[in-house]
Amino acid sequence: MATRLSRHGHEVPAQHHRLITSPMSRPPPSEDILVRIRGLKFYRGQRAIFDGVDIDIPRGGVTAIMGPSGTGKTTLLKLIGGQLTPDAGTIEVDGQEVHALSTRELYRLRMRMGMLFQSGALLTDLNVFDNVAYPLREHTKLNPSMTRKLVLMKLEAVGLRGAHQLMPSELSGGMARRVALARAIALDPMMIMYDEPFTGQDPISMGVLVQLIRRLNDAARISSIVVSHDVAETCEIADLVYVISNGKVIESGSPQALHEGGGEWTRQFMGGLADGPVPFHYPAPGLESDLFGESA
Ligand SMILES: Nc1ncnc2c1ncn2[C@@H]1O[C@H](COP(=O)(O)OP(=O)(O)O)[C@@H](O)[C@H]1O
Ligand SMILES: [Mg+2]
Repeated sequence: MATRLSRHGHEVPAQHHRLITSPMSRPPPSEDILVRIRGLKFYRGQRAIFDGVDIDIPRGGVTAIMGPSGTGKTTLLKLIGGQLTPDAGTIEVDGQEVHALSTRELYRLRMRMGMLFQSGALLTDLNVFDNVAYPLREHTKLNPSMTRKLVLMKLEAVGLRGAHQLMPSELSGGMARRVALARAIALDPMMIMYDEPFTGQDPISMGVLVQLIRRLNDAARISSIVVSHDVAETCEIADLVYVISNGKVIESGSPQALHEGGGEWTRQFMGGLADGPVPFHYPAPGLESDLFGESA
């Protein structure tokens, strides 16, 4: 593969997709790469979900992976987390090649990767406190008073210390997601992967989550990966956006650069426009033959 050297001397691959460079709205994160994906291929049956994808996720920033539903965003997080194995290519997290690790090493790496999955359900028969304490009790030998301090600090970080005695059934959807977030940061991970964090939230809790992701990223120095199809919210917090579709990275850059300089497809996706290169209609035979022709 053709490579060139970045100004810091790291080898970087030739970009196959459009890389849009423009001044970032925030200071650029360090050049240091937390997750490095090279030549990723992953198939489901005959279908290539990823067909040769290169992605660099910088340390210390909020990186968004955006694309339409069904493009493979959740799949990508599972590949990064080692729950799925690539058919080709490599994924490095914090310098370790995820799929070359022993089970024990992978387990240790995973403890440092917080994940907030869409279905990140709380344990319904445990209260908020015990839900957040769960990973600490499972993975550490901290004494009860230390556990209590940590749990309350994590709940404080998501604004829910006062709710520690509530049961999950007593929480709103937005609160439940924040408790899940407190649980995800219980072990002080180096990164958090958010899967569609805004889906199904009302505008207020959406705004709270947007701020929270940014705040945790900056205050706790947790690198963030947000996969989402919610363009507006995601662009509000992302330093860097990768747009994926049909197994490829189509474009990457700052949200502003993609809005202003993105290609036709990206502008349709970012603008939520009905008309553009992505047709409204799923391929179908003519309406008339479907309605009045012989039934299949
Ligand atoms: N366990 C599975 N078995 C077969 N196909 C799957 C499985 N999980 C996901 N897929 C398919 O892989 C594609 C990508 O899925 P996913 O990563 O969930 O997309 P996204 O998160 O972008 O909406 C979809 O077409 C989906 O139907
Ligand atoms: Mg998904």
